Amino acid sequence: MKICCIGAGYVGGPTMAMIAKQCPQISVHVVDLNQSRIDAWNSDELPVYEPGLDEVVREARGRNLTFSTNVDQAIAEADMIFIAVNTPTKHFGIGAGRAANLEFIEKCARQIAKVSKGHKIVVEKSTLPVRTAEAVKRILSSSSNGATFDVLSNPEFLAEGTAIADLLEPDRVLIGGESETAVKALADVYGQWVARDKILTTNLWSSELSKLTANAFLAQRVSSINAISALCEATEADIDEVSKAIGTDSRIGPKFLKASVGFGGSCFQKDILNLVYLCEHFGLREVADYWEQVVIMNDYQKRRFAERICRTMFNTVSDKKIAIWGFAFKKDTNDTRESAAIYVCRDLLRERARLVIYDPKVSKETIVSELLTALGDLSGTVSETDRELVHSNVTVVNNAYDAANQAHAIAVLTEWDEFRELDYDRIYDTMQKPAFVYDGRNILDRQKLTKIGFEIFAIGKSN
Ligand code: NAD
Ligand code: UGA
Repeated sequence: MKICCIGAGYVGGPTMAMIAKQCPQISVHVVDLNQSRIDAWNSDELPVYEPGLDEVVREARGRNLTFSTNVDQAIAEADMIFIAVNTPTKHFGIGAGRAANLEFIEKCARQIAKVSKGHKIVVEKSTLPVRTAEAVKRILSSSSNGATFDVLSNPEFLAEGTAIADLLEPDRVLIGGESETAVKALADVYGQWVARDKILTTNLWSSELSKLTANAFLAQRVSSINAISALCEATEADIDEVSKAIGTDSRIGPKFLKASVGFGGSCFQKDILNLVYLCEHFGLREVADYWEQVVIMNDYQKRRFAERICRTMFNTVSDKKIAIWGFAFKKDTNDTRESAAIYVCRDLLRERARLVIYDPKVSKETIVSELLTALGDLSGTVSETDRELVHSNVTVVNNAYDAANQAHAIAVLTEWDEFRELDYDRIYDTMQKPAFVYDGRNILDRQKLTKIGFEIFAIGKSN
């Protein structure tokens, strides 16, 4: 059997590497238009940082796992074609700011229709609005070579930072489709290492909608606990104690109740906005408003964090040096898409703070580019003043100590483990006094830091 995957990103790369590792008899070809991304997949510096991924790729690459830009060839040779391209929020025209941009999906479907011969199974791996398979099927049916297709929906539930563990032992694999033979063919691939009772099969539309719904429910939990964190700060209740107290109720459960500076990542916000757009489209105003509140609460949480920094630093951060620890949207990934850090840094820059940023896995180029985009307008235009602001007020360094040196404050924006184990006496000595710490992830030892002399502010804790 031959599999091809269009899109060598955070999903296409790791998922296909796992299939290739677990199924040595299947040949897996991952293709992308982005030459530098493919070059990186073929090198020792993979484009995605993910614990354990290097080993999986090293085992299968060159054996039954190939990365290339030969999209047409890969499609032509494959029996099963996964589409794992990006589906970002549309930022132009109808549905701008809410709907998913399906341009890349449609282009893939057209290319598959053009190049294919014989029969192929096309698998939607990207996260898509419910009923996208209908459009995909129509485009595929326009194939002029007499090719025939079955379309399946097989959304991916891996989380970045734990992708390898999630792929090895998924809570479930979801396959939606109409053709029993096609569903079985895909179930047989996962069945090589996933227990059969964890492979759920549904109709196409339930599968598509379950993916958006799962992300909406997860994000809703984070926004719910973050909403309560604001109340904790006003009442001397402690958010970690509240989380524990409610999470031990087996009906609620302990996961996804960690209060934070706000959720980030390429998917939660995009998928909820997509859900909101779909509800609006079907005239379900109240349902749309209900889900939109999850994103509104998240924006509030990020904004509130930056405002708290300004307020508690005597109402001005102008020309003050603030160490930013962590820029990725969560630990153990180099992904910065929609990271809360971007928006906190943007708000602090607008207050004219000087930022010294450190993240163990994110490059200076990525940080600068994210900040410029955040400061720009909707069309992507960045004013000269804002360019100059980033140029003069942002420094990127390669360790946490250098970032904190001479700083007025430290803001912890990603929960990297290394931040727990630093020499805080040494850090305190090098900082301006009073030495403020803003723990946006509640990972630091408050008692210890307070004893050293820091003034520490954390999420959902009153001072
Ligand atoms: P990504 O941006 O990292 O990767 C997408 C890749 O597709 C890019 O490298 C791009 O160059 C390529 N591409 C786009 N159009 C192409 C075309 N016509 N031909 C060949 N290559 C093309 O995106 P991602 O994070 O991997 O996400 C992909 C999809 O998976 C999205 O729908 C996302 O919502 C979903 N998803 C993502 C995650 C995650 O953790 N990132 C988890 C589950 C689901
Ligand atoms: C999320 C889902 O967990 C995956 O199941 C899904 O496949 C994926 O989105 C997707 O569709 O892209 P991911 O965004 O990679 O995965 O990471 P999460 O662990 O879900 O974290 C998302 C954000 O929420 C992060 O910024 C994280 O710091 C934050 N978060 C998470 C909290 O603030 N508190 C929590 O308790 C949990």
